[in-house]
Amino acid sequence: MIYLSSLIIDGGVPLCGVVHVQGAKNSALPILAASLLADGECIIENCPDISDTHTAVEILDSLGCRTELCGDYISVNPQYADGFVIHDTLMRKMRSSIIFLGSILARRHHARVSFPGGCDIGTRPIDLHLSALSKMGVEFSESHGYLDCRTRGLKGADINLTFPSVGATENVMLSAVRADGTTTIRNAAKEPEIIDLQGFLNAMGADVSGAGTGTIVIRGRKSLGPVRYRIISDRIAAGTYMCAVAAAGGSVLLKNIDCGALWSTTAILRDAGCTVEEHADMLRIESDGMTQTDSSGVIRTMPYPGFPTDMGSPMVAAMCLARGTTVFVETIFENRYKYVGELLRMGARIRTDGRVAVIDGVRRLYGARVEASDLRGGAALVVAALAAEGQTVINNAEYIERGYEHIDRVLSDLGADIKYA
Ligand code: EPZ
Repeated sequence: MIYLSSLIIDGGVPLCGVVHVQGAKNSALPILAASLLADGECIIENCPDISDTHTAVEILDSLGCRTELCGDYISVNPQYADGFVIHDTLMRKMRSSIIFLGSILARRHHARVSFPGGCDIGTRPIDLHLSALSKMGVEFSESHGYLDCRTRGLKGADINLTFPSVGATENVMLSAVRADGTTTIRNAAKEPEIIDLQGFLNAMGADVSGAGTGTIVIRGRKSLGPVRYRIISDRIAAGTYMCAVAAAGGSVLLKNIDCGALWSTTAILRDAGCTVEEHADMLRIESDGMTQTDSSGVIRTMPYPGFPTDMGSPMVAAMCLARGTTVFVETIFENRYKYVGELLRMGARIRTDGRVAVIDGVRRLYGARVEASDLRGGAALVVAALAAEGQTVINNAEYIERGYEHIDRVLSDLGADIKYA
């Protein structure tokens, strides 16, 4: 079988050095979608150089925006963007492309998107997005796998989300900032990326308040101006590198982070015996390797501020080596354990049943040929490979490149023996 991209890791080397943590993927995507709403050029700084942001730029280009990628910033000028269709290939490349729906509707009052479809972690429905938008005056019709969305004009509404969906919260914010009237979102997602989107929109002249709490109020504005904005750092990338140090051992300083957004990951790794020192926008983690630690009992993923579902996979990998038994309960997505079978090939002892994974710690993991099947599951395989004895080949590494900027460079700078095949 020919693989697009494979990572080769010779494990067992403690990690030492400094990581300047990348910009947040899950901020960059909604903020790139929001740039469509500006009356001029937006400069978005600290954008991670990953395939998902490249896909988002492809979508903006397909809608008629003028874009430019310059190092860690992206320029977007939507002045002549009159497109309203996101083609199937782009929707399938990145299901979170649905986040463009709100801003296309706000700009064109018409949008045509193919159903994003499921991915390897679950069915990923969009019912909460559609029911919210219909309350704001959007009508939908489906044909040949495409969803045609039209409105005579978006109007403010009271939106009560039955689940604090990140994407649905963001789509409503993007639709409401130029709607006629006021929109209130209750049971809104509270993730730091929602606060970042509010910051970007308000810098453009929008009137959004309450992000980070369960209730967000958006007062519609006729137009929004161009802006230069720096997005927050990626708390999931930072947490993943913390799990790598916990598993492989070593001492690493993470820079350009928000320690508060990492509190649940820090608490679990401290309980497991790692040393974590926090300083302003930096954090140092030290570990003798997870085999010297005790397991954390029960770990449950929850909407923010709970332990993030995206941190579940890398943390499972680290806990494979902790003494004792660790129980994981995944409460957000229904199929987040596809990578577990690959960890078993490396000598891990994990039993899964639906949303529960039970890990019995082992003394060592062994290098093996494994396959990534989703972004965070791929990251889990990297964490395990760094701690394993011998060589691991991770195939389908393009999944990992969707969310981790130059992961080979970051880890080899810490002393890891990692390269692309
Ligand atoms: C965002 O996905 C993130 N993606 C995900 O990160 C993250 O895991 C997730 O939020 C939860 O924090 C981006 O921000 C681009 P949701 P999203 O809507 O918006 C159900 C990563 O690895 N649901 O909060 O799709 C859904 O099925 C990615 O970086 C509905 O039922 O997540 C899931 O069970 C993976 N109907 C739950 O809500 C809907 O209309 C959470 O989904 C929408 C969602």
